Amino acid sequence: MAKTITVNNNNDNFKLGDPYFCHECGRTHQKGKIYQDHLKHAHNTDKINENIKENNDIIKLDDNEEEIDYKLLEESYDDNEVLEDDIDNEVLEDDIDNEVLEDDMESNANEKSLDKCIEQVKKLPGVGDATLRKLIKAGFTSLESIAFTPPSIIQEDSGLGEKSTATLVKASMKELNIGFKSAQDLWERRKNISRISTGSQELDNLFAGGLETGCVVEFFGEFRTGKTQIMHQLCVNVQLPREKGGLEGRALYIDTEGTFRPERIIQMAEALDLDYDKVLKNIIFGRAYNSDHQILLAKEAGNIIKEKNVKLIVVDSLIGHFRSEYIGRGTLATRQQTINQHLHDLLRLCDIHPDLAVVVTNQVQAKPDVFYGNPIQAAGGNVIAHGSTMRLSLRKGKGEQRVAKMIDAPHLPEGEAVFSITENGITD
Ligand code: GTP
Ligand code: MG
Repeated sequence: MAKTITVNNNNDNFKLGDPYFCHECGRTHQKGKIYQDHLKHAHNTDKINENIKENNDIIKLDDNEEEIDYKLLEESYDDNEVLEDDIDNEVLEDDIDNEVLEDDMESNANEKSLDKCIEQVKKLPGVGDATLRKLIKAGFTSLESIAFTPPSIIQEDSGLGEKSTATLVKASMKELNIGFKSAQDLWERRKNISRISTGSQELDNLFAGGLETGCVVEFFGEFRTGKTQIMHQLCVNVQLPREKGGLEGRALYIDTEGTFRPERIIQMAEALDLDYDKVLKNIIFGRAYNSDHQILLAKEAGNIIKEKNVKLIVVDSLIGHFRSEYIGRGTLATRQQTINQHLHDLLRLCDIHPDLAVVVTNQVQAKPDVFYGNPIQAAGGNVIAHGSTMRLSLRKGKGEQRVAKMIDAPHLPEGEAVFSITENGITD
């Protein structure tokens, strides 16, 4: 608020219109208009002060937000660590009478197979103690991980030089006998492919017997079509014994939308007569707060797949963060390139670990230039369409019913399946 001005000019010749210096606001007013002028100016000053205060508040708020985000990120890492530690500790405490994967022996077996892989890396030309340490630290713990990763990424992540990286990649490829092979060899490998049941026989039939490992499967559809519910169900089912449609492995869940609900896992586990505590412990959860964090989590996943016997990786959803962070046509090229790299990180994990399934969800967008037919299509354009190995679209049916349609698969016909979302999870 403006204050009343005290005239403190003692000059007797002080006439109307003469300049008058105001000590209060530090400005020169005109005699006769001093109060009016001062009020006008003081009013503006108040406004300016208010603006400054508001701006400061905004800046402070932003700072706080950044702080919170940063803290959350840290917490999420901590959570993950705690979760992993929990899993390790609990592995030894678990009883043996549950149907979900049993951990004691399995954990030792994983460690042994990891040691075996590292032994093979150690035998590569030019791998001394220092190089081995750098490779392990960057997550390159097997010949496959070295052979299938672009040399530039190995260099960047491990800090090794160009020449030694090239030698390592070449030697790993030679050791793994990568090159041309007969289609029969490929058939031998595909014959033994593992599958995870979705909970619905019809949906399993659409995949010719359940969700395949060794590839990236994409589910896209409008909101409430059941994408997240299917992801939850797969996290439970992957833990089942093989004869019951599982892979006796853990699930790793990258949640970008904050929609993962342990309550649903408990319901689904109880419906299958499983100990829900164990089922929850076998799901390694990571909340991605932005696209960079999402990419980082996917890269870090590579380091724990073998050690933690991870058989399923879920990214729900693949594109959400990218859609909100890259706005406007100008950013489109960068956005698509980054999504492409992220998708290839996931595809590479499938190459390195053939018994790993990767499932991603995708949002939809309405195409404005479609006048006939369905204007709804998957977001992310050609990059995701080409990147994912199989694509299914989901749409709503009557009540709890949902319809899944196989849009694209290298070896399966297009077809539809009707399934339901119930309290017990995904069923026919
Ligand atoms: P967005 O993430 O918003 O794109 O949707 P989404 O496709 O991931 O949908 P989501 O998988 O979350 O499915 C939500 C649907 O599942 C809703 O229609 C819910 O009614 C249904 N649903 C969730 N929990 C239950 C439940 O316990 N019982 C039943 N019957 N339905 C459920
Ligand atoms: Mg969802």
